[in-house]
Order: sequence, then structure tokens, then C-alpha cells
Amino acid sequence: MVKCAGREILLIARWRSLKLAIGADHGGFALKKIMMEFIVGLGHEVMDCGAFRLEPGDDYPDFAGAVARAIQKGQASRGILICGSGVGAGVAANKFEGIRAAVCHDAFSARQGVEDDDMNVLCLGERIIGAGAAREAVRVFLTAGFSGAERHLRRLNKVKSMEREFFK
Ligand code: RB5
Repeated sequence: MVKCAGREILLIARWRSLKLAIGADHGGFALKKIMMEFIVGLGHEVMDCGAFRLEPGDDYPDFAGAVARAIQKGQASRGILICGSGVGAGVAANKFEGIRAAVCHDAFSARQGVEDDDMNVLCLGERIIGAGAAREAVRVFLTAGFSGAERHLRRLNKVKSMEREFFK
């Protein structure tokens, strides 16, 4: 964000290669494979946090935890989580300090979630969204950057201060 004639202007972010962590339970297993191929095709690095085989009895918190920990350790800068709806994985990921996860099944939310809210984990529901729309949401998620605008920074800092208060 820069100021020009007293107005804040968003600069178009330059393309950069990212390190991503991706995870899915059985509900998102098939879409994970498609998204991994798509992301690698875009020139990004992907760390696969599982599931590594289709196991109908597996649990989304395990993969949400693996992706969240990879981000916390700095092994990845952002994450993608896929389950049946995207909801369970998002709920679980948000239990980890520093994780801002949300279900975004459209490009507008995927972009604004990053630019305004500094969302660092995109959650998708394989039973809800098709591969085409998922690719678009992921593409936008990967190209967007936090704007740093004063009002968004103020709100983000309030979220972080809640984290400091409650994540003990
Ligand atoms: C698993 O059947 C399903 O509940 C899970 O993938 C997810 O949709 C939870 O939110």
C-alpha cells in the first residue's frame, strides 16, 4: 500500500514463488492431488502434509495440525486445507497460534481474505466446490498479498492481541 495525493493505492504484487503446505482428509483427498499439480504447475513449492492414501476413517484435525505446524515452524509461508466442506479443517487450523484460516469458495473472498485479513490458510470443501473454481480460488490466494493498510493492520493487531490473551 502506498499513498498518492493523500489516497491509499494498492500496488499490484509481483509474482513470487511460495512454499506451501497442503493437507486433506478423505473428504478432500482427490481434490488435494489436483490442487498440488496445479500449484506446482504455477511454479510454487508444495509440502504434502497428508493424507498420503485414501483412508475413509481418517480425521481432518490431524492434517490441519500438520499444515499449521509447518507454517508455525517456517517450513511453509501459507497453507491449503481440504476436507468435505472445508469447515472442519478450518476450525481445527484456527486453534493454532498465528493461523488465520477460512473457507473461501470464490475468488473475491480468497483475494480479500489475504489483502485485508492476512489469511494464511485457504480451506476448500471437495464436496462443495468443483476443480475449476478451486483452481481459481487457489490462484488468487497465491497471488494476493496483505495490503498493510492502516485500518487492516489495526484490525489484524486486535486479532493478534486476542491471540496473545487466549492462546496461553
Ligand atoms: C468427513 O466425512 C467430513 O466430515 C470432513 O471431511 C469435513 O467435511 C469436516 O468439516
